[in-house]
Amino acid sequence: MTVILETDNVVKTFGGLTAVDHVSISVQEGQIFGIIGPNGAGKTTFLNSIAGTYKPNGGHVHFLGQETTGLPSNIMCRRGMARTFQISQPFPKMTALENVLVSATFGNKPGAVRNPVHYAHEMLDFVEFPMPQNTPAQSLNTVQLKRLDLARALASKPRLLLLDELAAGLATGELGDLMDIIRKIRDSGVTIIMIEHIMRVIMGLCDHLAVIYYGEKIADGPTLEVAQNPKVAEAYLGEEYDL
Ligand SMILES: Nc1ncnc2c1ncn2[C@@H]1O[C@H](COP(=O)(O)OP(=O)(O)O)[C@@H](O)[C@H]1O
Ligand SMILES: [Mg+2]
Repeated sequence: MTVILETDNVVKTFGGLTAVDHVSISVQEGQIFGIIGPNGAGKTTFLNSIAGTYKPNGGHVHFLGQETTGLPSNIMCRRGMARTFQISQPFPKMTALENVLVSATFGNKPGAVRNPVHYAHEMLDFVEFPMPQNTPAQSLNTVQLKRLDLARALASKPRLLLLDELAAGLATGELGDLMDIIRKIRDSGVTIIMIEHIMRVIMGLCDHLAVIYYGEKIADGPTLEVAQNPKVAEAYLGEEYDL
């Protein structure tokens, strides 16, 4: 198995607060790697420290065999790392297609996408975008925006896709469809790291879990093993929670 991403003791502080405290993970190519933990644990900050949104204050990040610690997000994107945000961040006045076109045009190495318009259409079809592709992003609802987020991320042809609570805000009936699309992305050869809270999504998709609690990684292993770890159940879900 090939390691696609490795973090070694990554630290991120905000003033006196250590939001990410020496977190090390190793993600294998082809995995769906879940990151779980309570609100405010540092999950998003950790993702931001990998993807170039933040420069870590300590530690190292290796992606596709090269050190990428502290490289900005535009470089990380062109090196094959794409992400979605906890709250969708489309260009609101542009259409869905134009939003994806931005990524297909600028998110890749020059020449990697021969026909960006065609490719943007293809990506919206791939995520089964449920609206006309010329709908302005500002008139999309949460479900439609999540699909758009995925299409935009995929249009940069990532090797690794980071998803930050993609399923949050969706009705139960919509989760199955979203899970099918995430599996389809994985089957197309893209490795996935996902921050997730919804147990059905975590247990149904993730091969491996890392648990972050007050900035520190407290468990890491195959999903079933981690889910049955009493320390995790207590820290993350409360003593009463029954998995
Ligand atoms: N830009 C920031 N400036 C200051 N504090 C931040 C910033 N981003 C996150 N934090 C703090 O870092 C901690 C971890 O936040 P976050 O990574 O968003 O947690 P999670 O994604 O696990 O809910 C929280 O205490 C949060 O308030
Ligand atoms: Mg978060």
